[in-house]
Amino acid sequence: MNFFDELVIPASENHIMLIKYMLTISLLLFIPYISMMLGATFISTHFSKKGKNEGNSLYLRFAKDVIEKLTITKSAELALGTIPVISTFFAYAQLLYTAKTISVGMFALAVVLFIISFVFIYKYRNTFKLEGIMTAFKNISGKDVLKSDNESVAEIKDFEQNINSTNSLSGTVGKWLLLTASYIFAGSMALASSPDKWPHVGNILQIIFSWQTLFNFGALISLAGIITGGAIMFYFFSWDGGLKDMTDEYAAIVKNTAGKIALGSGILFPLMLMISYAYLPMESQSPTVFYYTVVVLIIFLIAGNYIYAMFKNSDTGSATAVFILVFLLVFFNIVKDQLAFGNAIHENTKEITKIAIEEEKIVKSKTMQSTGIDAEAIFNQKCSACHKFDQKLVGPPYNETVLKYNGDVQKLADYIFNPQKIDPAYPPMPNQGLKKKEANAMAQWLINKVTKK
Ligand code: HEC
Repeated sequence: MNFFDELVIPASENHIMLIKYMLTISLLLFIPYISMMLGATFISTHFSKKGKNEGNSLYLRFAKDVIEKLTITKSAELALGTIPVISTFFAYAQLLYTAKTISVGMFALAVVLFIISFVFIYKYRNTFKLEGIMTAFKNISGKDVLKSDNESVAEIKDFEQNINSTNSLSGTVGKWLLLTASYIFAGSMALASSPDKWPHVGNILQIIFSWQTLFNFGALISLAGIITGGAIMFYFFSWDGGLKDMTDEYAAIVKNTAGKIALGSGILFPLMLMISYAYLPMESQSPTVFYYTVVVLIIFLIAGNYIYAMFKNSDTGSATAVFILVFLLVFFNIVKDQLAFGNAIHENTKEITKIAIEEEKIVKSKTMQSTGIDAEAIFNQKCSACHKFDQKLVGPPYNETVLKYNGDVQKLADYIFNPQKIDPAYPPMPNQGLKKKEANAMAQWLINKVTKK
């Protein structure tokens, strides 16, 4: 995507390593977070509707508890959702710099949809608070208060109606937006790891209707199910001693739902893992990617064992172990995906570092061309002992002093040719014995470097 290329500075090799680490960390925050969010909104909207239809207050309580616990707090949205997904996007844009693929543009679309869906979902979460306030109000004033006929009662009823419709509307909109965003996210990640497809995939429909997207999405959703199941058990039964005042009946609903989701996704996950591995193009495969896939499977089996035991024997004591194992599962899964992605873009990163080196050379050759003198070599020989561009050594940093000359090459050349005392904070600069021509080339080169021309 040319548009995104404009925003990107080609990265050097060290930089690319750094970007890859940042990418892994961002995904490590983001994937568990959207997984819990997906699971929580689907469960919560389901039980909210069911609870209202059947007038079952336990279902309604579960609808409220599950969205409140699994979306953590309002500020989690920024720390675990918005910021990581934006950093992930920038990392992809950097790594896919110059790559001819619509993957980065698709990713941008997913980011926008994610952020909008977060707004709706937190709005949905909030309506439960208002509903709680309404219930408390009715309890205090007595249920009959709403039966009488006067204006403020009508207003209160209106308000209640309002909360109710906001609740179901924002829940539904948020849920489907989040699911759509996740699908496009899975699709653009899959495409990014398949350079063989880049020339052929030119519009979003091709990504939407692709088996690879579907299986990648399947892997993401089944992982989300495992994470959700584990997180429910952890938050309801283990964290901080578990949820207070749960009746046996309520605990059974919670456990039953979490168990069904975790075990259902648990059957799907290894299948999706293997299919999406088989769909990786040759360029992305490597022995390391294969080993990591095996490691993911092994952790999955161990975690599955614990999860199964937890539900079968109602042994909620292992909820913490499950939580840690699920975290490891996510971690190795992300590392595996990133390794495959790294293999896929190997050629592209080589290209990017080449461009970075070339841009560096252009600055050098500009002065070489106009003066015939290699100023960089002189710098390395005669100046670098006392000067850096961005730091004080014996002499002041060039980035500070050279700008003063306002592009006046002659004036700077005169100084370098015959330094005068300038700044009382420094000792005087000894004359470096350059020729006039060399001093000129030095001045030109320094000005080019500092002004990045
Ligand atoms: C032995 C250390 C030393 C070496 C070698 C040296 N400088 Fe300096 N340079 C200084 C010091 C000290 C100052 C600050 C002098 C002052 O402010 O009076 C300075 C100041 C400067 C300034 C800033 C002048 C200003 O207007 O503030 C420039 C430009 C500069 N040096 C260029 C060079 C170049 C080009 C070379 C190599 C050809 C070089 N220096 C080699 C010590 C050194």
